[in-house]
Amino acid sequence: MSQHFQHDVLVIGSGAAGLSLALTLPGHLRIAVLSKGNLANGSTFWAQGGVAAVLDGTDTVQSHVEDTLNAGGGLCHEDAVRFTVEHSREAIQWLIDQGVPFTRDESADPEHPGFEFHLTREGGHSHRRIIHAADATGAAIFKTLLEQARQRPNIELLEQRVAVDLITERRLGLEGDRCLGAYVLNRATGEVDTYGSRFTILASGGAAKVYLYTSNPDGACGDGIAMAWRSGCRVANLEFNQFHPTCLYHPQAKSFLITEALRGEGAHLKLPNGERFMHRFDPRGELAPRDIVARAIDHEMKRLGIDCVYLDISHESDTFIKTHFPTVYERCLEFSIDITQQAIPVVPAAHYTCGGVVVDGHGRTDVPGLYAIGETSFTGLHGANRMASNSLLECFVYARSAAADILTQLDDINIPDTLPSWDASQVTDSDEDVIIAHNWDELRRFMWDYVGIVRTNKRLQRAEHRVRLLLDEIDEFYSNYKVSRDLIELRNLAQVAELIIRSAMARKESRGLHYTLDYPDMLPEALDTILVPTTYAD
Ligand code: FAD
Ligand code: SIN
Repeated sequence: MSQHFQHDVLVIGSGAAGLSLALTLPGHLRIAVLSKGNLANGSTFWAQGGVAAVLDGTDTVQSHVEDTLNAGGGLCHEDAVRFTVEHSREAIQWLIDQGVPFTRDESADPEHPGFEFHLTREGGHSHRRIIHAADATGAAIFKTLLEQARQRPNIELLEQRVAVDLITERRLGLEGDRCLGAYVLNRATGEVDTYGSRFTILASGGAAKVYLYTSNPDGACGDGIAMAWRSGCRVANLEFNQFHPTCLYHPQAKSFLITEALRGEGAHLKLPNGERFMHRFDPRGELAPRDIVARAIDHEMKRLGIDCVYLDISHESDTFIKTHFPTVYERCLEFSIDITQQAIPVVPAAHYTCGGVVVDGHGRTDVPGLYAIGETSFTGLHGANRMASNSLLECFVYARSAAADILTQLDDINIPDTLPSWDASQVTDSDEDVIIAHNWDELRRFMWDYVGIVRTNKRLQRAEHRVRLLLDEIDEFYSNYKVSRDLIELRNLAQVAELIIRSAMARKESRGLHYTLDYPDMLPEALDTILVPTTYAD
């Protein structure tokens, strides 16, 4: 039997964004935080490098703003950049207050508390401004926030719950278009339950799993973007998929990330013959923004017909490497690569979704009562290329801003006590799950081949043709069979892929992460690609 639940706030996602929002809201609100796998399922747990913020007395808000604007290829919204950076110090202070064990700077002067933590550097940043917990910053943040959330009786942390679709007044045929909650698959019972909520938050991460090779964990399927789109929200700039330049190249490694902080601390990118090459592409060399480094690697791999390039930090001392990069050191050693002695084989992989659900400065979407925060959202911060370590910062700043906005509306918002149950009367158990596995593989492969680092009109047209066939097939399957996590994810991935392709086809220029051989130049005017839903797939 499916069940009904009622909360003040329903948070879909238990990563940096979702947990921060839940912890920022007051203790009298009933809050549910959902994760479709275990609670550590999101990208947050895997974040390595750190969080960018203006913390050092020699750094300035203006400098961080300018670096972000430069990396973003003219497409960042300056108001969003300034808002985020201006709130960076207080966001970090909040994390420190929660107990996040950031790495301390052993040479810090105790008289100047602003300097007590070690700051590292990453591509595009003109200052050392990345606060971190060695090279496992995400795990340190996640564990601390989870620990705090577990101590709050008003926060229910629910694992193995997959949001299928949002419940809106429009979907129910009521007047208005407010979001009233979500239908959620409980993987333990196989039932789709009804979660009514006064405020619903999409904190469901990015969509990098749409590509065959990715640094992201399995759940990064763009569920939030697809659900928001189906509910009538605009999405923007989805053509800007960031490829991280350096993921470990090893058949058993499943795209383990080699943090950019290695390059920040002096690692060199090399060809198989030991030659450095980045200076041929950008005067900043290994510390050029990510789009440039990833494209340079892709270019060299194609030019020389090689499977990978190499990242070398072996010129640093063993102690330095093991202290700053213990996670990378240990993981590489598992594959018999001793990074204190040898270079690491690396390739680019899909890493971050710069576009997303259009929101305002409080994370409000186009649908009243529905917020989007973190990687799912499009705030305007990242422009055409996200600068390293700005994404976790965005999670904290917008989670806190959305929480503040919810507080201003608490007294005014009530929703119906009962909402209709999920209708499963027309569907049966699937006897052909092979279709899901096949379509999943096909989608991710053609996205990699045709909508990857370098694009052309022809490749995009091929991808568009294929995605439309897949969408039809998936729709038919979805209408006839009971939902499962795999089916929900495939449906969302295909939807987001279609939006990515459509956005890429609309951009008749090369800018930031979107590079096409047919329009290699940048147009004088920088415009967002905003897609508006015209029909509601209710
Ligand atoms: P996530 O942390 O991805 O969490 C998503 C949550 O949503 C999960 O709990 C998931 O289970 C849940 N979810 C999704 N769909 C559903 C659904 N349908 N129903 C229920 N639950 C759902 N950024 C930085 O700033 N600095 C870094 O150093 C850094 N390093 C990174 C390293 C790696 C390997 C990766 C992959 C990313 C890195 N990033 C980094 C990017 C950053 O980690 C992410 O952008 C950020 O953590 C996203 O947080 P989030 O809260 O938006 O989503
Ligand atoms: C990294 O550590 O290289 C990832 C940083 C990021 O994605 O911001």
